[in-house]
Amino acid sequence: MNSVTYKMNGNHNHESNYIEESTKDNRISLIFSLKEEVGALARVLRIFEEKGVSLTHIESRPSRLIKDEYQFFINLDNKSIPDLDDIVHSLRHDIGATVHELSRDKKKDAGSSSAFLLHASPASMLHPNNVIPIPWFPRTIQDLDKFANQILSYGAELDSDHPGFTDPAYRARRKVFADIAFNYKHGQPIPQVTYTEEERKTWGTVFKELKTLYPTHACYEHNHVFPLLEEYCGYNENNIPQLEDVSNFLQKCTGFRLRPVAGLLSSRDFLAGLAFRVFHSTQYIRHGSKPMYTPEPDVCHELLGHAPLFADPRFAQFSQEIGLASLGAPDQYIEMLATVYWFTAEFGICRQKDKLKAYGAGLLSSFGELKYCLTDKPEFKPFEPEKTALQKYPITEFQPVYFIADSFEDAKEKVRKFAATIPRPFSVRYNPYTQSIEVLDNVQQLKNLADNISGEIGILCCALRKLE
Ligand SMILES: [Fe+2]
Repeated sequence: MNSVTYKMNGNHNHESNYIEESTKDNRISLIFSLKEEVGALARVLRIFEEKGVSLTHIESRPSRLIKDEYQFFINLDNKSIPDLDDIVHSLRHDIGATVHELSRDKKKDAGSSSAFLLHASPASMLHPNNVIPIPWFPRTIQDLDKFANQILSYGAELDSDHPGFTDPAYRARRKVFADIAFNYKHGQPIPQVTYTEEERKTWGTVFKELKTLYPTHACYEHNHVFPLLEEYCGYNENNIPQLEDVSNFLQKCTGFRLRPVAGLLSSRDFLAGLAFRVFHSTQYIRHGSKPMYTPEPDVCHELLGHAPLFADPRFAQFSQEIGLASLGAPDQYIEMLATVYWFTAEFGICRQKDKLKAYGAGLLSSFGELKYCLTDKPEFKPFEPEKTALQKYPITEFQPVYFIADSFEDAKEKVRKFAATIPRPFSVRYNPYTQSIEVLDNVQQLKNLADNISGEIGILCCALRKLE
């Protein structure tokens, strides 16, 4: 059972044997809830019938939380399933179910086990005694190796409208960077890259232009950290800093680290990295023909826009909070969290000493938008995650709307409150000692947490007494 993590009754010692056995037999398991109404189950079964999928096992029981609702556990014959995504799509739309992906490796391991959690009613996930499996998500920092190469686009391939599409030398160069990322495993040093003269020239152009704007347009935190990056990480107009050096610097500041990635990850995977204070960073640079334009994140965007902020403890906490909120969240909430991330870490503006300043990396790495975002042309709204999460946005032009955060601390608290509204039957906590995610779903876990907090409070009280 390599990738399917199940838990019943929230107890590690009571894992469901029948589910484990089913996955060994390469079956697909589904759990869903239905209102008790005539024909409800028949409608679900009809979907499987229409798709030609064989059921090998079915169980039902009354929901422990919601009156008149039943839960169903089904095994499907994996060999009879032509397109699992199509079935899940039908279930979502035909029965209004919320679908949780439990297996990360369902595409990679076609033919091996996969499972989905289906809920007609998200409310049924809230009861602590309800029997709800916990969806798969990375539990340890090493688990990030499992999806780091599942990029959605780019990598060594380029779209036809990419400035480097017709440049074979650039494409070959991109393959070098993609290979570094594909071969990377957690714990290894990020390979050093010798950038070409043209690449350094492109970096220099971007670096010089942006640096003129930072004192007036960037937030305090960015301006505070930037000189340190120049001093310790080789930031200057003639040198593209090495990811390894920047990663080591960030780890000393906040525990954040960089991890090379070949292209765009899915929102779920990217956000999961933040839960471990891992930022997936590209290492290649944009095409030299258009130094002030890139259709995708590149090393200028990562190192000039993102890296300085990850050295700030409050911003680091804020970013991790979004990541933790994403673990095991339903798909629609992943989209909302990705939008929150977009309007904060990418295009966020904050108020500092009654002035608006940019802290989003998309702004801090774009000369044109950095100037534009603080003019009176765009619309400004207060950062409120539940509203921000629903805002539509363009990705190829300047943002018409920006959201203003009062502080990173304030933004973090708001994200935390928003995260509490995400329908998950468990809470999570990052354990920095083991670099793993603890799922707080049983009494022993809560006791351990209480002991830790008690220890910290003791240290705080002792320190306060000494200060007095
Ligand atoms: Fe970014």
